Amino acid sequence: MHKRLKIKFLGSEIDSPIVLPAGVMDMSFSSLQDAIINGAGIVTSKSLTVQPRAGHEGPVVAEFEGGMLNAMGLCNPGIDDGLKEIEQFKTNFAAPVIVSIFATNVHDFMQLAKKVDHSSAEFLELNLSCPNVFDEFGIPLAASPQQVFEIIKAVKEMTSKPVIAKLSPNVHAIIPIAESAQKAGADALCLINTVGPGMLIDIRMRKPILKNKFGGMSGPCIKPIALKLIYEVHSKIGLPIIGTGGVQSGEDVIEMWMAGASLVGVGTAVHYNGMNIFTKIKQEIIQFLEDQNYHLLMDVPRLPSQVREK
Ligand code: DHB
Repeated sequence: MHKRLKIKFLGSEIDSPIVLPAGVMDMSFSSLQDAIINGAGIVTSKSLTVQPRAGHEGPVVAEFEGGMLNAMGLCNPGIDDGLKEIEQFKTNFAAPVIVSIFATNVHDFMQLAKKVDHSSAEFLELNLSCPNVFDEFGIPLAASPQQVFEIIKAVKEMTSKPVIAKLSPNVHAIIPIAESAQKAGADALCLINTVGPGMLIDIRMRKPILKNKFGGMSGPCIKPIALKLIYEVHSKIGLPIIGTGGVQSGEDVIEMWMAGASLVGVGTAVHYNGMNIFTKIKQEIIQFLEDQNYHLLMDVPRLPSQVREK
C-alpha cells in the first residue's frame, strides 16, 4: 500500500487508483485476490446475468499491433454463483468490489440489482454497453438516453449501493447519455467500454479470426478516444469517473487523471502482461509524482475544463 496513491471515491477511501475492470479475468476468488495482492485498489466482477452464460464459441480473442478484439459473449457463472465468489473474496479481503451486471430489460436489471444489494460488494456497475451481443439482443442500451434513464432509475430503487453506469464510446454524442444517467441518479460513470466492434481477417484461411466475426476493440489504440470522452464528460457532468481504455503505464494513469478520471481501469494490459503490471504502473505513478514534485496523486491538477455549454 502507498499512501500517496490513496483516492476518495464515492465516500470510500481506496488504497490505489487502479481498478481491475469487468471481464478481464475469470471472476474466481483467486483472480480477484491476485489483482489486489498485485496492487489494484478495486476489483470488478465479470458482468453477471440472471442465468449463467457459456459465451461465444472460440476464438474469442484476436490480437493486433494496436490492441485486441474480444467477443467473449458475456460468459459468466450467473448472478447466484458469481455472488458466491464475491462473498468468498470478501471474507478474506477488505478491498472494495464492484459487481458488474448485464441485462437487456428493466425487469432483469432490477432483479440483478436486488441480489447485489444483499451482497457484501460495495458498488454496482451496469454494463449498458456490451458491443458483442447484437445478434441476440440488438443495439446496446447505452445508445439510448431514454433507456439509460429508465434502467438506472429502476435500479436505484432496488439498491442503496452506489451505482456506476458503464457507457459506450460508440455513440455520436455522449453528453446526452451521461446527462440521462446523472438525472436518473447514477453515482458515477465508467468510461469507456470497448470500441467498435471491429473485425480482423485470417487471410490464409480467408475468414474472420473471431468465430463471432466481430469483437469489441481495446488496448493502446483506444486510449485517445477514452481520454477525449472522459475529458468531455468530466467538463460537463459532475459525476466521478472510472477511466478505462488502453492504459498500460503510470503515465497513462496520469493522463486519465488529468482528463478527469478518479480511478483508472487496466484491462487489456493485464491480458498481455499478467497482474504484476499493476505493481509496475504504481511504481511509475510514484516516479511521476517524485519528478514533478507532487506529494499525492490527488494533488495533480486536472486539465482546465471545457466551457460548460447550456
Ligand atoms: C464483452 C462485453 C463487453 O462489455 C465488452 O466491452 C467486450 C466484450 C463480451 O462479453 O463479449
